[in-house]
Amino acid sequence: MLGILGGTGPEGRGLALRFALAGEQVLIGSRDASRATSAVESVLEHAPAGSVGGGANAEVAARADVVLVSVPYAAQRGTLAALTAELAGKTVVCLVAPLEFNRGRASAVRVEEGSAALQAQAILPDSTVAAAFQNVSAEDLLVPGKPIDSDVIVCADDADARRLVMDLAEGIEGVRAVNGGGLANARYVEDLTALLLNINRNYKAHSSIRITGI
Ligand SMILES: NC(=O)c1ccc[n+]([C@@H]2O[C@H](COP(=O)([O-])OP(=O)(O)OC[C@H]3O[C@@H](n4cnc5c(N)ncnc54)[C@H](OP(=O)(O)O)[C@@H]3O)[C@@H](O)[C@H]2O)c1
Repeated sequence: MLGILGGTGPEGRGLALRFALAGEQVLIGSRDASRATSAVESVLEHAPAGSVGGGANAEVAARADVVLVSVPYAAQRGTLAALTAELAGKTVVCLVAPLEFNRGRASAVRVEEGSAALQAQAILPDSTVAAAFQNVSAEDLLVPGKPIDSDVIVCADDADARRLVMDLAEGIEGVRAVNGGGLANARYVEDLTALLLNINRNYKAHSSIRITGI
């Protein structure tokens, strides 16, 4: 069972849809269970019946085996600090790209711990944190049937967690998962999102990444 904290946002709903289409059971989490219900209904318009449920973030964190963090960077610390018990012993996947915007231009925010993913691991010492999906556009994920023309770089210190998340990513049509090594490398993937957003602005497009030569 996959859980998505903050799964009511576009990235969380988009991934919920794609994982449900890949045959996973998904729970969408929210601060407000009724918002989760609305998001579940919208995802189920395109996903198999019964594949998506929802609830408050704490309930989702408790019920899911693998939990994705899909809240804005500014909300990550508070969200995770309140759920350390529910998330203990689980794989937690950080999608967070810490960004700020100035006149429409994105730039990466410096994180004291080194990256959003390392911050998540520091807050959750009893969980295994992986980082992935930071470069995948929600707008593309939300279009059912649109192949995702992107690599997903997966970083984790735990090889089993990295493999698990790589397999999840490759369930999404068009995605190739790339082993990004340890969690310390997640900062480079997070920061790349700022560049992609600025490229999107220049080209009026949804850019993504492909690693070649491997
Ligand atoms: N959008 C993209 O294309 C994209 C692509 C790659 C990665 N990401 C990353 O994925 C994450 C989610 O992106 P998004 O665009 O879906 O974000 P979002 O819409 O801004 O937020 C997602 C959800 O987080 C919850 N949230 C908002 N403020 C909160 C707070 N102060 N405390 C706790 N929860 C809060 C809200 O859910 P409730 O109100 O229901 O609790 C909201 O629906 C971000 O970290 C982003 O960097 C996004």
